[in-house]
Amino acid sequence: MRIARPRDRAEPAASEITPRTVFLDRRRWLLAATAAVALPGPAQTARPGKLAPLAGAKSPVAGAVATDRPTSPADITGYNNYYEFGTDKGDPARHAGTLRPRPWSVTVEGEVHKPATFDLDTLLRLAPMEERIYRLRCVEGWSMVVPWVGYSLAELVRRVEPTGNARYVQFVTLADRAQMPALRSRVLDWPYVEALRLDEAMQPLALLAFGLYGEVLPNQNGAPVRVVVPWKYGFKSGKSIVAIRFVEQPPRTSWSSAAPDEYGFYANVNPHVDHPRWSQATERRIGEDGLFAKRRKTLLFNGYEAEVGQLYAGMDLKKYF
Ligand code: MTE
Repeated sequence: MRIARPRDRAEPAASEITPRTVFLDRRRWLLAATAAVALPGPAQTARPGKLAPLAGAKSPVAGAVATDRPTSPADITGYNNYYEFGTDKGDPARHAGTLRPRPWSVTVEGEVHKPATFDLDTLLRLAPMEERIYRLRCVEGWSMVVPWVGYSLAELVRRVEPTGNARYVQFVTLADRAQMPALRSRVLDWPYVEALRLDEAMQPLALLAFGLYGEVLPNQNGAPVRVVVPWKYGFKSGKSIVAIRFVEQPPRTSWSSAAPDEYGFYANVNPHVDHPRWSQATERRIGEDGLFAKRRKTLLFNGYEAEVGQLYAGMDLKKYF
């Protein structure tokens, strides 16, 4: 993965930073499962009128709402990694308009008692939507805070009833040359695939996300459905998911196949385990990187240690990085 270079982005204008009141107002508007059926496409044209408020809803999931100030919508949707649309941070926002997030379906297969293909409307209604405010730490050394809308991946996993042989869950993302011109480049072996251990996928923080800031996901953020695993480096969170496979053996994952010494299967955020080419001890929070901004200290498991630490009890995190 390339390290972000200064020319990759311009400083945000003050006008792009969401005032707190606007943000709080947006927070009242969450995708309600019933209204979600009417979501319009393409993703960027979502109208708040189509979103129903989930008044006073609080996530029952521990750690689900970070108190950090959320990153501005302009930064979240303008500074992206989505290599199917190019490797520059501005490429996804510039080029992802060709992605067609509808119609869409996700096939769930492998070691499950109830394999199924879910169309998007069914997926949107599968469980109540919640807002989850998560820190996102990219392996490249930058971070954001994103108010996602979605529900725990565990909801879907339970629905399909994994067999006793299911130990890993692989996420396969869209690879369609007609919609994704940068697939012609050989930067990765397409499709982009990622995976979790089954118990990681069942941890309630692992999210199936359909929206952010109370609106449907913009294409560049992985419309219409993506995974978000907040205690792992961002590359574990595959965008535009088309298949979910339950398997017995560790499946292929894109970055650890491309550079196994640099990107491990676990990819848990860990300030004590450096990337071979740079330190992981600190991070640059996007939107806070003015002339005098200090880098923040990166936290073990991205600050979600209380929730997920026990998943890795007894494991050597330097070996299983
Ligand atoms: N998913 C796909 N299909 N293709 C990608 O290139 N990049 C990953 C991840 N998911 C990527 C992907 C990386 S490296 C990061 S940091 C996050 O998406 C970025 O998500 P964001 O652009 O919504 O912040």
